[in-house]
Amino acid sequence: MSLDQRELRDVFGCFATGVTIITAREEDGRPVGLTANSFTSVSLDPPLVLFNLDRGANCADAFAEGRPFAVSVLRHDQMAQSNHFASKAEDKFADDGFDWTEGENGCPVLDGALAQLECTCDSLHDGGDHWIIIGRVSRTAREDGAPLLFYRGRYVHLEGEW
Ligand SMILES: Cc1cc2nc3c(=O)[nH]c(=O)nc-3n(C[C@H](O)[C@H](O)[C@H](O)COP(=O)(O)O)c2cc1C
Repeated sequence: MSLDQRELRDVFGCFATGVTIITAREEDGRPVGLTANSFTSVSLDPPLVLFNLDRGANCADAFAEGRPFAVSVLRHDQMAQSNHFASKAEDKFADDGFDWTEGENGCPVLDGALAQLECTCDSLHDGGDHWIIIGRVSRTAREDGAPLLFYRGRYVHLEGEW
């Protein structure tokens, strides 16, 4: 049975997630990044996370095995940054509409993010039209605040705890 792609996308979208911006550097040092909601934690010991990267992404080559990358978990008021990093802009860091700093591993982390994780690409796995990228975490930081969420193709925010 072949599944309808539109329906499949809509079904996947029923799973509510947070939103991250994942950054790395090209071989020549140029910073690159993309918005990703496929980020998830994997293991505490060793400290592993993963995200799924579209094989066709312009920045795909920057996420090779052994290369560093950084994950910024977005706060509820960082929707503009999410849209910016989901765009196909040539140089996403030329924009001065947001602040970022360089992490210890050399990759950009976004100021104001709820959490920051610096990682090294541990392994890449076949995930169909995506790469499954496993990262080993080397440094973390976090701040108070509410998350930006993504659900059924739209940004949403928390209404509070049960
Ligand atoms: C909320 C949201 C979540 C996304 N999650 C992912 C993801 O997990 N993996 C991915 O490869 N692209 C994801 N995308 C799409 C990329 O951010 C987008 O295709 C980006 O332009 C790719 O980077 P590039 O400019 O280097 O090609 C997401 C987009 C949005 C708006």
